[in-house]
Formats: sequence, structure tokens, C-alpha cells
Amino acid sequence: MGALMCGIVAARVDGGAAPFLLRALSLLEYRGYDSAGVAIVTEDASTAVIRSVGRVGGLTTDVAAWAGAPLTGLGIGHTRWATHGAVTTGNAHPHRDCTGRISVAHNGIIENHRALRQELEADGHAFASDVDSEVVCHLIEDHLESSGDLLRSVHAATRRLEGSWALVVTDAETGRLVAAAHHSPLIVASSAIGDFVTSDIGAIADWVDEYRTLVDGDIVELADELVWTRDGQRTAAPQAALCPFTSAALERGSHADYMAKEIDEQPAIAARILDDLVPHIADGSLWRSLEAPAFERIAVLGCGTSLNAGRVIARAFGALGGIPTVSVVASEASETILDPGTLILALSQSGETADILRALDQLEPVSAGLVAVTNNPASSVARRAASVVDCNAGPEIGVAATKTFVAQVITGVAVAVSALVATGRIDRSRAADLTDDLRRLPDLLAQALEVSKGVVPGIVDEVLDRSGFIFLGRGPGVVFAEEGALKLKEISYRWAEHYPAGELKHGPLALVDQGTPVIVVDNGDPRLASNLSEVAARGGRVITIGGAGSTIPAVGMSMSRPLVGGMDRWGPLEAVVPLQLFARELALRLGLDVDKPRNLAKSVTVE
Ligand code: F6R
Repeated sequence: MGALMCGIVAARVDGGAAPFLLRALSLLEYRGYDSAGVAIVTEDASTAVIRSVGRVGGLTTDVAAWAGAPLTGLGIGHTRWATHGAVTTGNAHPHRDCTGRISVAHNGIIENHRALRQELEADGHAFASDVDSEVVCHLIEDHLESSGDLLRSVHAATRRLEGSWALVVTDAETGRLVAAAHHSPLIVASSAIGDFVTSDIGAIADWVDEYRTLVDGDIVELADELVWTRDGQRTAAPQAALCPFTSAALERGSHADYMAKEIDEQPAIAARILDDLVPHIADGSLWRSLEAPAFERIAVLGCGTSLNAGRVIARAFGALGGIPTVSVVASEASETILDPGTLILALSQSGETADILRALDQLEPVSAGLVAVTNNPASSVARRAASVVDCNAGPEIGVAATKTFVAQVITGVAVAVSALVATGRIDRSRAADLTDDLRRLPDLLAQALEVSKGVVPGIVDEVLDRSGFIFLGRGPGVVFAEEGALKLKEISYRWAEHYPAGELKHGPLALVDQGTPVIVVDNGDPRLASNLSEVAARGGRVITIGGAGSTIPAVGMSMSRPLVGGMDRWGPLEAVVPLQLFARELALRLGLDVDKPRNLAKSVTVE
């Protein structure tokens, strides 16, 4: 079995395809890194299939060692994240048909693969792997035998498929290349260098200026011109979008890892976002530009860190404007009953998260409307929403979300304040005070970075051997405790749980013994003191993240009521910085890869 959520690439270039495929795969690796492979057409019209378990680095060595027929400029590649089934070379992509003529890389799940495999095996096809995707090779093989035409064969084959797919297919005999998409992201791009297909523009940003996105049902041949078909009919290619960044944005630079780079970028990103948004917040024009419908309630929808960002934004709508809010875990959306007049705010960094797309199928029809907040305005979530807010964080490569959390919160709170003033729930001068709060965030984030870098390593020293961590907060601090625990578990593999501090005595206090690390987001709530003495009395090691006098004095004035318009009601955003650094430092000290934590992938395109 091999349900996949992966990165795929195809190149049709003069000269050799291998360097292009390998470079793109290394940039796609964040989507999955169990195994990787390439299939490159050779000069004798056969195909070199080179696959290996592990990272793209290993594959690069294997490709360099290729001693068969010379490789041409036509090839496909794949980096895999297996949801089930063994991670083996045989299950790595690309896969081939019985003749070896057709090679296929696939991202998605073929839901009816069992029935198709049975049928194909009964017809005499021999399968070489356990993965669902291999049925696609054999279906194409059957049709190619009768029609002789790759494009028509891919059409015929995909008509038999149920599920989701982004496919790249090569025919070694004719040197043709076809791409197809259904419920999985795929783009094509052409430039003077050649033609490319990939899951994510970032992988090919070095070589193209613009790209076109396939929508469900599109099948495209990359020939001297693009042959674009939709629902089986020839159609004009959709309008090209400009490449949103250059490859420089993908470089790690002097940073030790992408996570370090992305944490460090946060103050500058906050400043850039605010430069764009501030003039349009307090007059309501940001909200009006979205042309979103009237609403009585807000539901924030997301997964993981994006949901945490959504919860902060929900708090801004609720605490600042008295709007009833609910936060919906996307994978549990079928359990949610939306009240009338609920506007959905869907948060997704990638915009490709399958749980969110399915949740929208269920919730959008019964909602007042949908606003998407995403880091990828060309993504599937963005394409579904009439109103899209680009959270504008730039590409995030580290699997653990850091800068996109900050960007989502700032963008979302700006939207919330603008919505409240545009709909008459707060007046302009209140909105101006709230906007002033936002303006202070770049400095608060920068201070938090500086302070935390000095203090966090020493604290990590003390807790290195601890297997469990508790994160606490109260009111607006709770969601930051949740985000801190999520970061810690995903990159350090240590158990971490978060609780509202008041809940501790209702059970979790039993976990605390001598030296148990208890990390507290201290937003100045006076009730925290007694919760913390309960921990200290049982020998717990209390680590506070707060203002002056706390263990990590990284929280600025965002919590001091007289100085601000209301940030204390939804902040403190800068508390996330020490939490990110704490998780990273611990993971590094444990010798772990902070950019590519085990078992995870950045873009979760399967449910
Ligand atoms: C945590 C993390 C994940 C994502 C989640 C949603 O660091 O990265 O929890 O936040 O998978 O992904 P997007 O935002 O792409 O929908």
C-alpha cells in the first residue's frame, strides 16, 4: 500500500535532466523525505529508474554512479511521504508499466486501487510494488497499446481512477511528457531553459518567471507548445501567474538550519506585513476590499499551528468586538454544527491541507461565506474562497511552522480589527489604537529574539534529560502554551502537553514531580501565581516566559493594559519566539534534524 503525499517534478530540457530533477527534489523534500527517485529517459529510448530510501542526498550519489546508457533531458522525480506501507526502494516512485516504456510519479491516493490491481493482474499485468500508484502505469500501458497516443491514454486511465492525483508521465519511446491533476496540487512552467512540472513553484523558481496551475480534471502535454485539456476537451492554457519569489528566498544563507532562519526573519516579516496593511486597517478598507459577506459569528478552521493562529485571531474578534467565535479542528469538521450567520476564516499556510479542503466541502455550504488566510494565494484553499488574504510570509521550508504563525496572526488580527470597524462594531479611534498596538509588534518580536537567544540555551541545559514537559497559560496565553507544546513535540520528540493553568489541579498536577519542566506563558494574570506555587511545592521546575523578573523576560509591554489599545486581550504574540527557540535548542542538543522531523511533512495533502 502506498498512499502518498509527496513532491513531484518533471523536466524537459536540453542537455541532462538529472541536475534539474535533483535540485527540485531537494527543494521539495519538505513535502516528504522517506525515499526519493527519478526516472530519466536514456539515449537508447529506455528509462533509467534510480530510487533510494532516505534523503535526496543519497539519491544524488546513486544518480552520479549511473553507468548505463547516457541520460537525456527528459525525466521525472518524486520525494515520498508514506502514510502506510513499507518505506522500501521498490515502493519508492517513479513506477513503471510492464514494458518499462511508461514511467509515472504520483502524489495523492488512488482509492479504488485494489479493484483496479485485481483487474489488471487478471489481465496479465505484473506488479513490481505494493503502492496504489502503480495501477496508473498499467492502465496507461493498456490504453497506449490500443491508441498509441500518450495524452489520450492518460485521459482514459484517469477516467478509471477514484481519489486524488497529481501525475507526471513519460513515454520513453516517443519522448512525450504528460501531467494530470485532480485534488492534488500541480503546476507547469516553460522558460528558455525548458519545461517543468511540479507540486510547488518553489522547486523550480530558479528557472522560470511564470507558471500555470492545473485545476481538477486538467491533463496537459508539455510539447513544443502546451497542449492543455480539461475534462477531455482541448482548451486554452489558463493565464500564467508570476513566480512569487526568486530562488534566493529559498536559500538558508548563513543560518544553521531553515528553522533558525525563519525564526530570525519574524521581526522583518512583521514589519513588511504591517507596512502593507496598516493604512487599510482603521478605516475598514482592508475588510471592504475582501468583499466578504455580512456575518454574526466567526468560525476559524485549520490544523496544527494554523489552527493555533486561528484561535488567536478568533480571540481578537471575540475580545475586541464581542463576536461569538468557534474554532474548528478541520479533521473533525463533520462533528461541527455552525450557527446561522457564521463566516468561516480558513487558515492554511500551504493552502493544500486535505483536511481543510474536506472540511470546507462540509461547512461552506451552511456558512455565511469563506475567507481564506494563506501563505499561498494560488493554492487549492485560496481558489475555493471568494475572499483571500495573503499572509505574505515568504516560503517556509522548515517543517515546523514558525514565521507563518506570526504572519497569520498579524494578518488575521489586522483583518479582524478592520472587519470590526467596517461593520460598525468598533469606532475608528478604537481601531486606530488597536492598529498602534500592531505597529509595535516588529520591535516586540525583535526584543523577544534577543532576550531569548541569551537565556534559552542555559535553560535547555537543565532540562535536557527530561522526558515530559508541561506548558501552561491563562486567557490569551493558553493558545501560546499550546503552540509551544506543539513545537516541542514535533521537533524534539519529547512528550509535551499544554493546559489552561487553572486545569492543573483537576488532574495534570499528578504528572509533576521533582524537576518536571513546567513552562508558563505569563501574561500577567494574577491567578497564575497560585497555580505556579502548586507546581513549585511539588518540585516542578517552573520556567516563566513573561515580563521583567521572569525566567525568560521576553514579553514586552503587550500585556500592560494602560499602554496599549487592547493587545493584552489577544496577545502576547512575542511569547511564541522563546517557545520556538526552546523547542529548536532542545532538538539540536538531542542531535535531531529540526527542519525535517521524523514522520512529518510540511504539506499534508492526505486526510
Ligand atoms: C506545525 C505544523 C503543522 C501545520 C498543519 C497545517 O508546526 O507545521 O501543524 O500547521 O499541518 O498546515 P497548513 O497550515 O499548511 O494547512
